[in-house]
Amino acid sequence: MKLFKRILFFLLLVLIVIQFFPPTPNKSDTTPPTDLLLVENVPEKVNATLTNVCYDCHSNHTNYPWYAGIEPLSYWLAGHIEEGKEHLDFSQWDLYSAKKKAHKLEEIAESVTEGWMPLESYKWIHKSANLSEEESKAVADWASMLRLNYLKAEKPQ
Ligand code: HEC
Repeated sequence: MKLFKRILFFLLLVLIVIQFFPPTPNKSDTTPPTDLLLVENVPEKVNATLTNVCYDCHSNHTNYPWYAGIEPLSYWLAGHIEEGKEHLDFSQWDLYSAKKKAHKLEEIAESVTEGWMPLESYKWIHKSANLSEEESKAVADWASMLRLNYLKAEKPQ
């Protein structure tokens, strides 16, 4: 019993200490000129979905929930954001080549149609991130149309 109490005390101590070492927040004051929403013509509905949902993990602008201030939950969120941006960073969009943009747009359309984005854990917590069929279709249609432009740009006639 004594050992159990000691372990519990130790874990509590660790939990308190890590509160002083939060990860750097993914919250930039400025929007770079390479941001997708500045360089592409995005319909209002799609804009809302991207801004409210996808930008949380795929840009420099995360809208943090209250519990994001609690370690180690914050580490877990930071991990998703880091990995999400590695794969697709809307803040750096215009730095991508036409070929890369076309590929990412294909993946974006697929991700919402097949439902593997946003992440499952994110959907549990953010009810509004469970995209309606209409919202998913709007994103998929927009991405597929824009993709065609980039495919054309790649193969000049
Ligand atoms: C909670 C964080 C989170 C949210 C919100 C989120 N994503 Fe992701 N996304 C990730 C992570 C992490 C990865 C990389 C791992 C994976 O593919 O599962 C990823 C990967 C992707 C990829 C694959 C890119 C590639 O080329 O490999 C696409 C496309 C994508 N996300 C689109 C979206 C779209 C569209 C939305 C909004 C509807 C969205 N994501 C919302 C975290 C997120």
